[in-house]
Amino acid sequence: MDYILKTYNLTKKYKDITAVENVNMTIKKGDIYGFIGKNGAGKTTLIRMITGLINPTSGNVEIFGHPVSRGNKAFLERIGTIIEFPGSYQNLTARENLEMHRRLMRVSDKKRIDEVLELVNLQHVSNKKVKGFSLGMKQRLGIARALLHKPEFLILDEPTNGLDPVGIKEIRQLIIDLAKTHGITILVSSHILSEIHQMVTRIGIINNGHLLEEVGYEAIKERNRHFIEAKVSNDKKAAYLLENHFAIENYSIIEPGIIRIYESLENSPAINKIFVKNGIDVAEIKISKDTLEDYFLKLTGGENNA
Ligand SMILES: Nc1ncnc2c1ncn2[C@@H]1O[C@H](COP(=O)(O)OP(=O)(O)OP(=O)(O)O)[C@@H](O)[C@H]1O
Ligand SMILES: [Mg+2]
Repeated sequence: MDYILKTYNLTKKYKDITAVENVNMTIKKGDIYGFIGKNGAGKTTLIRMITGLINPTSGNVEIFGHPVSRGNKAFLERIGTIIEFPGSYQNLTARENLEMHRRLMRVSDKKRIDEVLELVNLQHVSNKKVKGFSLGMKQRLGIARALLHKPEFLILDEPTNGLDPVGIKEIRQLIIDLAKTHGITILVSSHILSEIHQMVTRIGIINNGHLLEEVGYEAIKERNRHFIEAKVSNDKKAAYLLENHFAIENYSIIEPGIIRIYESLENSPAINKIFVKNGIDVAEIKISKDTLEDYFLKLTGGENNA
């Protein structure tokens, strides 16, 4: 089976609000699927339907090839989530919190607690009370709890929310490690694309309840690449010079007089010089980045109201 998750025209309506509408999402085994959307876009609602916490108004969810409903919770043993679970007990230690959850989840292997503490890098503070933890440590403890029963599919709703750059990096490293080393498929949501795009293999963009697009890693890289952009008086001659002087083939004339060069970025001064020397007027030459963030903002229509 290739797919861990498939949704079919998944829709959730609340009176006059359509929170999620006709979403067809696919997550393949091994994906780190970044689920991106502004506040109120419908991320949590979709995740709640996926995990059977709420029923869809219409449409279906399949996890591991089986239909999900509130009556069918067997699949829950194979997924781990950090949505809707109560926070940790502040007056208990990390280890005590995990021990409680271990009993609740009927995980018989007591050694599993040390394993998950190590996975999230909290082994050194395992006997400290949670109330002294940073937000990042609390998030990682939440992830440790979600991992206790060895899920195959981990669903993290905004795990980087409110963290500082160091905390975000730690979560990112952890997610990559869980996917690459432990083979766990991961769905991770965020309203800030730049916080997660470096680690994902696929991205789904949701806006106003609609899944606008699902793009793979190659497309992500493609849309996030740097290039030299030159405004020249003679694009054909410029192309000739790029190929013959610099052996550059990875370029394109995006419109008459505007040429983009996707390699040898460090050579932009030399390229400029050769153009001018050969009688080409260079009105502008700059290094640009076609960021995924720009693309996301364009798709979702305006500022990310984070
Ligand atoms: N129980 C509910 N009753 C009524 N409306 C709801 C309910 N839950 C969510 N909504 C509405 O559905 C829409 C989607 O909300 P949702 O929480 O799924 O967004 P989100 O993408 O998770 O946002 P955030 O980034 O703020 O967490 C919002 O307009 C929200 O107000
Ligand atoms: Mg949410």
